[in-house]
Amino acid sequence: MTITKAVIPVAGLGTRFLPVTKTMPKEMLPVVDKPAIEYVVEEAANAGLDDVLLVTGRSKRAVEDYFDVAPELERALKNKGDDERLASVREPVDLATLHFVRQGRPRGLGHAVLCGRQHVGDQHFAVLLGDDLIDERDQILPVMLAVAERTGGSVIALLEVPRDQIGLYGCAAVSAADPALAAGLEMTGEPLPQADVVRIDALVEKPAPEDAPSNLAIIGRYVLSPAVFDVLEHTEPGRGNEIQLTDALAELAQDPSQPGHGVYGVVFRGRRYDTGDKLDYLKAVVQLAAERDDLGPDFRDWLHGFVTGLK
Ligand code: UTP
Repeated sequence: MTITKAVIPVAGLGTRFLPVTKTMPKEMLPVVDKPAIEYVVEEAANAGLDDVLLVTGRSKRAVEDYFDVAPELERALKNKGDDERLASVREPVDLATLHFVRQGRPRGLGHAVLCGRQHVGDQHFAVLLGDDLIDERDQILPVMLAVAERTGGSVIALLEVPRDQIGLYGCAAVSAADPALAAGLEMTGEPLPQADVVRIDALVEKPAPEDAPSNLAIIGRYVLSPAVFDVLEHTEPGRGNEIQLTDALAELAQDPSQPGHGVYGVVFRGRRYDTGDKLDYLKAVVQLAAERDDLGPDFRDWLHGFVTGLK
């Protein structure tokens, strides 16, 4: 099995980032000088997922335009001989083969994934959330793809969070997986400790901390078996009256003996930014700008002075 397709839902309302998201998709917010969504498409392409379906909605035209050619702008830059900027404008267009489908109404992440059914067909695929950035130095997708290929099931990414924050996320009840599953898989250049691949026994969306089965939060990377589509077709709206992907995955986890069922988790220990959240967004911009070769030295100097002045 080789997994080549990615679905990236970007049709949400982005209410946590209002007012700017009234007209601006949150996935288009700049993280230094590229929109958040470009980092996510890059991550998919780097993992070999070169067929990318973006699930868009009303007021998301900017996303579609960003990944399209811009003939006037390109001509102007070419005439000026500004090859560097020209390349930066072309880059998003050439990253992957992009497809678009509309989610008429934002009925939840599960529904957004279901909108990809026809395009994906009967094969495993990845889902990357368009506002969730994984630092390119700390990749997780290759490990998740390998676990899906070894098991034929679905795989979710997990992050350990302080227990009082688990209510912001989907939460996983886990047990040990067969150590052979993790054998030979590397993450962040280190051999992946076997304990970092787990079996998912149950999932619960945004539990109260006292009811949470663990402090393992679901973050925005999934590799899904096509069996998820049949489940999503009958998944009732859940929390927030939205069709929750977590609810469908919980059903897949319940009966791992069925073909394509069974859910595994890979625990992520690297750098990740939720750019749909204002505070996390600010941290992402500062951190990534400070580390850039071009802007970093001047920005770090300024930041030093600024932070000293705060004390
Ligand atoms: P979020 O819950 O983070 O997105 O969904 P949201 O609803 O836009 O955000 P807030 O909470 O109101 O600020 C995770 C991802 O799923 C997409 C979002 O665009 C985001 O990338 N999504 C969510 C859809 O595509 N369709 C939906 O109906 C809901």
